[in-house]
Amino acid sequence: MGEIYFRQLLAGRDFARVNPIAVQMVNFIYLIGDQETKECLVVDPAWDVEGLLQAAEQDGMKLVGALATHYHPDHVGGSLFGYDVEGLAKLLARAPVKVHVQKEEADGLRRVTGLSESDLERRESGDRIQIGSVQVECIHTPGHTPGSQCFLVNGSLLVSGDTLFIQGCGRVDLPGGNPQQMYESLTQKLAKLPDHILLYPGHDYADKPVTTLGEQKKNNYYLRMQSLDQWLRLMG
Ligand SMILES: [Fe+2]
Repeated sequence: MGEIYFRQLLAGRDFARVNPIAVQMVNFIYLIGDQETKECLVVDPAWDVEGLLQAAEQDGMKLVGALATHYHPDHVGGSLFGYDVEGLAKLLARAPVKVHVQKEEADGLRRVTGLSESDLERRESGDRIQIGSVQVECIHTPGHTPGSQCFLVNGSLLVSGDTLFIQGCGRVDLPGGNPQQMYESLTQKLAKLPDHILLYPGHDYADKPVTTLGEQKKNNYYLRMQSLDQWLRLMG
């Protein structure tokens, strides 16, 4: 497998610097690609499309696709409490690429962003997206939303969206959230991945921007739940 190109960008700091809501929401956006072919994908392009395109361009990378972890407007653009967040619609107007979305999330994504069916690649869990010689595996992790997905890059980096945070996990009390599914996604899917994997979450909510899954399996309460009962008591 090829040399990975990987960048973690913090909205409100690395781009969208003048946007006070971006500063507050602390979303991470990721560029993932192949160092040799100079092609990349962007994960959750929101807040400042020009800024993101510039970041890729400065690294000499060509954007060839977009990945959506889930359909919330702070990740894909749309109306957030009445504030219009830039996102996929503007990106596709600037750079016509496909948006890879879990099939359970596709209709919701279209509603939130106004994209058409032809803009989408509906993905299933286990699908692999090839970018040069780098491979991105889609892992369906419902719970925060019905079609939330995580991206495993070359088996060594996990981009976890709002499913798993460092020392936390995504909310399950928003529309489409499901505590039982979140329990299964965290304990049956993500906690079963190898310890060496680096965890890159969707928000900068912790005292560090990245850690290992092994460290989180030890220290993240939400990955350590022993039973669904215990979990539902915690969530209830
Ligand atoms: Fe979210």
